[in-house]
Formats: sequence, C-alpha cells, structure tokens
Amino acid sequence: MSKKKIWLLGNWKMNHTIAEARAFFAALSPLPKGVAVGLAPSACVLGALAEEELPCMRGAQNIYCEESGAFTGELSAPMLQECKADFVLIGHSERRALFGESDALIGKKVAYALERGLWAVLCVGETLAEREKGEAFAVVTRQLKIALEHVKSAEHLVIAYEPVWAIGTGKTASSADAESVHAHIAQFLKGRFAQARVPILYGGSVKPANCRELIAQPHIDGALVGGASLEATSFNALIEAAS
Ligand code: PGA
Repeated sequence: MSKKKIWLLGNWKMNHTIAEARAFFAALSPLPKGVAVGLAPSACVLGALAEEELPCMRGAQNIYCEESGAFTGELSAPMLQECKADFVLIGHSERRALFGESDALIGKKVAYALERGLWAVLCVGETLAEREKGEAFAVVTRQLKIALEHVKSAEHLVIAYEPVWAIGTGKTASSADAESVHAHIAQFLKGRFAQARVPILYGGSVKPANCRELIAQPHIDGALVGGASLEATSFNALIEAAS
C-alpha cells in the first residue's frame, strides 16, 4: 500500500493580529516534503499577507455561498481567492453552535466553495450528549449527507472529524474511538463518491504529544488543530510529529 499523504491544518479562530501572525511565520521551521501544511488565520491576516511569500497553504475560516450582494459581514470565494486562500473551513462546530449554521447552509457553502475551486474542509462531529446516547455515527452521517447533497465531485474535498466535546477541552478521543468514526466516514464517502480518496482529518485537542499516534491510524490522514497551532514552537513540534 502506498504511504498516505498527511495533512496538518491550523485553525487560529479569532486569534493573532497581523503583527502576531508575522512573528509566527518568522519563527516557523522549514516545512518537510510530503506533509500538506496549512493555516487558517483571520480574514484580516489573509488580506494583509496576500502578497507575502508563505511556506504553507492559506485558509479562511468561513465563506458565504454567494458571489456578492447584501450579505453584511460575509466573504465570497473571489474575495478569499484574491487574498490567495487555498482552502476554507466550513461547518466548524463553533459556526454551528454559536452562529446557528444549519446543515443545509453548510451544504450550500461546501458546494459553492468546491465549484469556485477552493479546497473545502467540511467539519463534522457529535456533541457529548449525542455520544453518550450512542448517536455519534448517526449524527456524523446526517451531517455528511446534507452537507454533500449538492456536491458533484469530491476533488478538493477534505473532511475534518471534530467531536465537539474534544475541542479546546484537552480531552482527545482515544485513537481507537477516532479511528472507528473515521472508518465509518471513509465507508460513507466510498459509497457517495465511488472513485475518490478524500482526506479525513481528526480535530479536537490535538497536541505534539498525541498527534503521532492519531495519524498512525489507518483512516486518519492528518489533523485540524486549534490551540496548539497558535504558537510557532508547538506548531513546529506538530509538523515534526506529522512528518
Ligand atoms: P483545539 O481546536 O485543537 O483547540 O481543540 C480544534 C478546532 O476547533 O479545530
């Protein structure tokens, strides 16, 4: 079997000013070959650094599903691409829980981002209550089904499985628990897109200490990292663990 390609994406959320982002990139170690590394800073940082050389892929944390118009506060694909974004996070649990994003809206965003040539990183994952009721697989399946309803090709699609109870809490899913959900997602994707191999990343309190074990699992293709992507020292250690 060929060696899988590892992805390491950082989600800075609402952290880091432009000056702080510049300091971070100055302290970033050279990137190894064979690991797809990317960071999703604020839209302000994306714009400010658009003309600067960066060693990694650039991502946005959100997108809207229209080209332009009366959508106060939103950003379109041309706007993000003008800022050199390669990928966009869609359906992060904070967008779902704090900003009321529905599966249907997330589905429109995924289809739009892919049609416009961005990599779409679709985030799915169950809450603690859903896991305790034994509904983790059903929740993830529902989120995938609706979000991918209008997607014609899985080219440029990435899935991030992020159990909500593991995000920013220091609680990581055990590698065996994460692997079983990833295998379920892989099975779903195989049925939905016969030919495509879609990367499936794990997210939720990934740290340099647990990254290696997680990505050693057969269906875990990398990590989407929040807290540990904020400091160059820990992000460098994650890159080292992933390579
Ligand atoms: P965390 O965040 O690594 O801080 O748990 C992950 C995420 O929200 O993508």
